[in-house]
Amino acid sequence: MLFDFGLDFTLPDKDGRAFPLTSLLGRYVVLYFFPRAGTPGCTREAREFQENLPRFRSQGAEVVGVSPDSPMRLARFAERNALEFPLLSDEDGKLAEAYGVRSEGKFVRSTFLLDRAGVVRWAWRNVLVPGHVEEVLTTLEALIKAERNVNALIAVRRAKRALRPDPIPQEDITRLIEAAHLAPSCFNNQPWRFVVAQGEKLEEVKKALPGGNYWALKAPAIVAVASHPDLDCRLSDHRDYFLFDCGLAVGFLMVQATQIGLVAHPIAGYDPLAVKRALGIPEDYILITLVVLGWPGDPADLSEKHRELELGPRIRRPLAEVLGWNAFPKEEK
Ligand SMILES: Cc1cc2nc3c(=O)[nH]c(=O)nc-3n(C[C@H](O)[C@H](O)[C@H](O)COP(=O)(O)O)c2cc1C
Repeated sequence: MLFDFGLDFTLPDKDGRAFPLTSLLGRYVVLYFFPRAGTPGCTREAREFQENLPRFRSQGAEVVGVSPDSPMRLARFAERNALEFPLLSDEDGKLAEAYGVRSEGKFVRSTFLLDRAGVVRWAWRNVLVPGHVEEVLTTLEALIKAERNVNALIAVRRAKRALRPDPIPQEDITRLIEAAHLAPSCFNNQPWRFVVAQGEKLEEVKKALPGGNYWALKAPAIVAVASHPDLDCRLSDHRDYFLFDCGLAVGFLMVQATQIGLVAHPIAGYDPLAVKRALGIPEDYILITLVVLGWPGDPADLSEKHRELELGPRIRRPLAEVLGWNAFPKEEK
């Protein structure tokens, strides 16, 4: 992944109208930069994109060409070559600059494939035109196929227990909390409070772990997640949302941790009063979970039971037991 917000730009199109790239959200985007309209290479590339436009569009993708040419020049280029896809004029090169494809004032022929959320998923720089459009199509097809699966970070995340105690850079831990803090919450109440335990405080927290969580003693850091019911919506029918919203935040934290290969394992097994005391968490707050952080370690260090879980397949109830279509799921006998 190269950029998260590859569509946050507005440029004039060939007719001089403002074209916000965000209008492409929800579609795949083939964003291609070319040096100068009307030159042989750029003409061939544009024609090949045009010839294959039905194939791109049938897969839910839009092709967009960007060059430093004026809208007028782009309009002539489009007319001469019967180009039906949008052409954008980036005369001051701000989009090319953001994508890192401007060199000595010139555009380097490059193509970016963005997913439906606007995230760049593939990049070709210094493109040679022959065979390029076909390669973009093949990559698009592979991306579409991959996206039918559950999100890769969600799929590979596991509550691993074998940990390597190497320190985690402060910056990485901060990023995890930033990800957690981007979670949605009822009325945007953000009821989560995080305390990162390291050094002496970490040792105190570890003293509050029961024998069953022996594996967490190797953790180089532990994050305490605390909240109070009054920090979030309290609605009818016992809908206190603070636990739910903190759960979402921890979910985000775990996905972010997985992205950098870090284990983030939430636990409920600890003495909450001892941890609250150690970390100065107010008595009336609820210490919802501790998230044990660490790098993946050697499963040989684990008990036999935990080793089997660590190396075994994921265990989940059948989907039908938890999912009902238009009716509450039937209880499995
Ligand atoms: C709220 C919560 C509390 C948990 N408590 C513990 C714990 O105290 N000790 C432990 O070893 N694992 C604990 N786990 C990990 C779960 O056992 C684990 O997530 C579950 O078995 C599913 O495995 P997976 O996360 O690898 O898919 C906890 C998980 C959650 C979400």
